[in-house]
Parts: sequence; structure tokens; C-alpha cells
Amino acid sequence: MTEENKFEPRIVAFLCNWCTYAGADLAGTGRKEYQANVRVIKLPCTGGIDPLFLIKAFERGADGILVSGCHPGDCHYNSGNYHARRRWNVYKPLLEFCGINPDRIQFSWISAAEGAKWVETINGVVDTVRALGPFENYQKLNTIGSDTSVSSETG
Ligand code: FES
Repeated sequence: MTEENKFEPRIVAFLCNWCTYAGADLAGTGRKEYQANVRVIKLPCTGGIDPLFLIKAFERGADGILVSGCHPGDCHYNSGNYHARRRWNVYKPLLEFCGINPDRIQFSWISAAEGAKWVETINGVVDTVRALGPFENYQKLNTIGSDTSVSSETG
């Protein structure tokens, strides 16, 4: 692979408005550098993130996803992050069942004061997904009429 066509992953980050988004903003205002592969979608709370949002992001070309919100006990809607964590525990095996490597989706807690943690987390997500390579299952499904070589990432 040449330097010009080196794979750069597209990461979609679903962030709660109150904690992680503010933490990412703090990193920006603090002029901390992180990899520019991320596109942020700001939502009121991780508790409102429908798993279909994540599937839709993959369908639209994401190679990896980060979901991040307030630390346990800090959710501005009391228990939204607990609901999100429970949902993730159910969703992860479902991803594996569908043949999607669960390492393509990561979940974290980052507060408004943790700009450095945002930088470390998003760089880690980008590096992990870069190592996994592009997520092409949806593109393959769209050409299933002419090509039946859809395979699982999880074996
Ligand atoms: Fe941040 Fe609920 S308000 S996770």
C-alpha cells in the first residue's frame, strides 16, 4: 500500500452534550492535538442512543464508532448512562453474531474536565480501527446481486 492510498479510518463519535462533548471541547480550546479522523454527533445523553444509530453510521461509511458520556453517577438525566451501558452489554454479542468485530465500537466515560482523556481515548479508537482495516460489509451487501463474497469479521 502506497503512502497516498494509506487507509484512514472514519470514526463517528456519539457524545453526550454535558460531559464528553464538553471534554472534547476542552481539548480543542486547550489546543491539544488528536487524530482528525473523528466526526462528532452531539446528543443530550447516551441513554437516548438507539443501537440503530450505530448500524446507520456503519451503513453510511463509518469504520468505527465511539459512544461516550458522563461517568456513572454524573448523568444529567440520572441514569441514562446506566441504560446505555446495559444496552451495550446486550448489543455487543449481537454485533458478533452479525459478523461485526465488536472492537469497532467502543464505549467510554469522559467528563467535561477530562480533555486529556478525550485525546487519549479517540487516538486509541482511531489506532484500533486503523489496525482492523476498512469496514466494507455494507458495501459488499449492496453489491450482493453481483457478488456473494460477504464474509464475517469475527470468524
Ligand atoms: Fe451525559 Fe446522560 S447526560 S450520559
